[in-house]
Amino acid sequence: MKKTTLLLALMLSSWVAILSQSCNKTKDTPQEFIADNNSFKGFTGWPKQGSFNGPDPLLGAMAHANNDASVVRSVYFKNGQDRVNGKFPVGTLIVKHSTNPSGTVNEFTGMVKRGNNFDPTHNDWEYFMLTADGSIMTDTGGMVLRGSGLMGGMCVSCHGGASTKDYIFSK
Ligand code: HEC
Repeated sequence: MKKTTLLLALMLSSWVAILSQSCNKTKDTPQEFIADNNSFKGFTGWPKQGSFNGPDPLLGAMAHANNDASVVRSVYFKNGQDRVNGKFPVGTLIVKHSTNPSGTVNEFTGMVKRGNNFDPTHNDWEYFMLTADGSIMTDTGGMVLRGSGLMGGMCVSCHGGASTKDYIFSK
């Protein structure tokens, strides 16, 4: 009786080990990362890549409020993620906050490397409009503001100017 219990316990623990190992594997190389309302939470605590201020010819007249000299554009990369062999890995999360002291501008945008052939011609990035707490924004019509072609494709077409850097300007 005792031997059987021991055997069972041993079998169980090796199962747990195998299971947790396969879980770790998926965690290391996720095939697809689908962001939800929790994914961007706490982004102000992520390593800050930089703060940008003033007009940038790359931004045109309006994008990211660069036409307003009082606006500072801060960019955060979760875990300070870098490129791996020239590309950001699936699951990379980036938030950009553009704001000014008077508070007339307060814009939160996000990019996530979604993977899984989500948008293979543009390196599988998904673009987001976010609220201050990092939730994914919904417009007045109830549409969730996310996708590869967000804002009529404006995000992806301008970020295409950085296609040799995997669509990311600031790093
Ligand atoms: C007209 C060009 C342009 C458009 C349109 C644009 N961006 Fe950007 N974006 C930039 C530039 C340039 C930067 C680099 C930081 C800076 O100069 O402010 C940037 C930075 C970012 C970053 C930080 C990562 C990086 O590439 O450095 C995120 C996230 C981002 N943009 C999201 C968006 C989203 C979401 C949209 C659409 C709603 C969008 N952008 C539209 C030009 C653009």
